[in-house]
Amino acid sequence: MPNVTFSSPLLSHPVTIFTADEESSNVLALAEAHRIPLPHVCGRGECGDCMIDVLTLSGKLLGSILTEKEKARLSAAGKMTPEDIRLAEAKDIAPRYRLACQFVPRYEDVLVKFSGRPGDA
Ligand code: FES
Repeated sequence: MPNVTFSSPLLSHPVTIFTADEESSNVLALAEAHRIPLPHVCGRGECGDCMIDVLTLSGKLLGSILTEKEKARLSAAGKMTPEDIRLAEAKDIAPRYRLACQFVPRYEDVLVKFSGRPGDA
């Protein structure tokens, strides 16, 4: 199971969560369960406030299951291009920006960065 490390100016140091017991949790649920102050409003992929910058720590490509809401919200924010969507769907190459409420880490250890400003990773 992946480890998820959160990094933000809102945190005094990076926080790593071992997700063995929380394997189907999305990143927002992990953050809430561990009192990580990741901005959010709707929890349904609609507001965009939970935008995160995701980097893999294992050197592997991330799997990319993008929801329609995530694609629409990130595209509207200028954080996802049609090419990003094509690469995610055709080649399983993950886009850099995600919505924490829609992203479920699968296998790779990841670094999740957020600025603390709603809708700005
Ligand atoms: Fe609104 Fe994630 S909390 S899109």
